[in-house]
Amino acid sequence: MKVVKNIAVLRHHVALWREKKASVGLTPTMGFLHEGHESLMRRAVNENDRVVVSIFVNPAQFGPSEDLDRYPRDLEHDLERCEALGVDLVFCPEVEEMYPAGFQSMVAVSALSQGLCGKSRPTHFQGVCTVVSKFFNIVSPDRAYFGEKDAQQLAIIRRMAKDLDFTVEIVGCPIVREADGLAKSSRNKYLSPEERKAAPALNKALHAAGEAALSGIRDSRSLLRIVEESLAAEPLFRIDYVEIVDPLSLQPVEKIERGALLAAAAWLGATRLIDNRLL
Ligand code: PAF
Repeated sequence: MKVVKNIAVLRHHVALWREKKASVGLTPTMGFLHEGHESLMRRAVNENDRVVVSIFVNPAQFGPSEDLDRYPRDLEHDLERCEALGVDLVFCPEVEEMYPAGFQSMVAVSALSQGLCGKSRPTHFQGVCTVVSKFFNIVSPDRAYFGEKDAQQLAIIRRMAKDLDFTVEIVGCPIVREADGLAKSSRNKYLSPEERKAAPALNKALHAAGEAALSGIRDSRSLLRIVEESLAAEPLFRIDYVEIVDPLSLQPVEKIERGALLAAAAWLGATRLIDNRLL
């Protein structure tokens, strides 16, 4: 497995693979890899001749008061996981390689970035779109793999790829959960033992609304109330948002007729958790 920090070197390797007509998959990550990332990498390895994993904690997607400095990192462990899964190349650039002095171009997907997480993280998705479009330009992958836990990010990246004529196929992969239902996330590391115990309540609340929808409740207000009441039973949680939206447009849905996305973000102490499920 190659470990590359430089864009030109990465391009050179990809060009050699392309000469041999190899297909290329890309899994972009911010490192501190867990089973959620592994499911993306495994799928990429199964579906492509060559796989690139990027490990880059992207400063452009963190707001000024967010956790950029304390975001968990463990490159040595990440490289071991990538190697064990059969990844061909890990791209782990320094910030200066991705954003050299003078950098000033950003990619924004306007309407889709405004609701849900965009309300409390107004610059987040433009940072994500900028770095992901750079990765697409640098690697020119056939397929790129993203987790469905970040449902808004996935919808935005699909839109961006379509709008900007990237030829890459965007592949969404199911949420991977701990045994007690908590969605896997690098940020789960921040939780105190008490918060970790409370954390599955978020998935439980979404699950309760999912069951209610299955039993025939169709209006979003009633379903949202179920989530809010269920989460209120866990006093450590502070809700950021709970919404039911169309999975593609991310616009609020009042009555569930086709599939709808129930998405939530909530604070446990200083840690913001997100989760979602399709209704
Ligand atoms: O989902 C993530 O980990 C990041 O937002 C991504 C897609 C790697 C871009 O930095």
